[in-house]
Amino acid sequence: MKNIPIKLIICKDKSEVAKKSADIFADEIRNNPSMVLGLATGSTPIDMYKELIRLHKKEGLDFSKVVSFNLDEYLGLAPDHNQSYRYFMDNTFFNHINIKKSNTYVLNGLSKNPEEECKKFENAIKKSGGIDLQLLGIGANGHIAFNEPGSSLNSRTRIVDLTQKTINDNSRFFEKKSDVPCQALTMGIASILESKKIVLLATGEGKSTAVKKALNGPVTSKVPASYLQNHIDCTFIIDKAAALKLKG
Ligand code: GLP
Repeated sequence: MKNIPIKLIICKDKSEVAKKSADIFADEIRNNPSMVLGLATGSTPIDMYKELIRLHKKEGLDFSKVVSFNLDEYLGLAPDHNQSYRYFMDNTFFNHINIKKSNTYVLNGLSKNPEEECKKFENAIKKSGGIDLQLLGIGANGHIAFNEPGSSLNSRTRIVDLTQKTINDNSRFFEKKSDVPCQALTMGIASILESKKIVLLATGEGKSTAVKKALNGPVTSKVPASYLQNHIDCTFIIDKAAALKLKG
């Protein structure tokens, strides 16, 4: 199944990761102004979003025809909850560029029928023609989006239970650990791998084991990011700290 190895770009620090990845996104948007983006939350892509906002404000990078789908959302959080991923995307990115809010899809964590919400989301991706460029982060346990270890290659957008590790890692954004939702809605591995091009960002030593396993380890459900070895156009853009375990 694997055709082309994952491309690896090692940057000197996280600001170079932000610059390089923003340049890739900006080039793609200039070439195809009505492209479909897959977007990610977490602390890692924040500086990339800042750089894209700068390119929008200073160089007129135009998002008016761009459509976006976000990877995941906490189950049980309202879109206007300050820890919801909708809130994060609006405040970190969408409110500062000229994307049409109606073109931005984030799963609704408060949906009365979450299964139906997941189906609607998959259908919306299909209707849009599919994701052209998908941004990913990586969890310290190798998860992508909220596809935790054990997720299958065929998984699609669905409700998942978060692992204790992810709950602990993400608790830094919440007042109390007990406030972190223990379930989420997430695009599946199969949904992600259908994107035409994938860019994964990782910074900091805490990600170095996951990065090593994803790039060089066996393709296994134990490390969901290792499934990316099955994609024909995937690039990891990481800083030196995240590359530490790749040496020797
Ligand atoms: C969350 C998100 C992932 C993200 C990960 C890493 O679990 N669901 O999509 O990649 O966090 O986050 P950070 O970039 O803050 O390390």
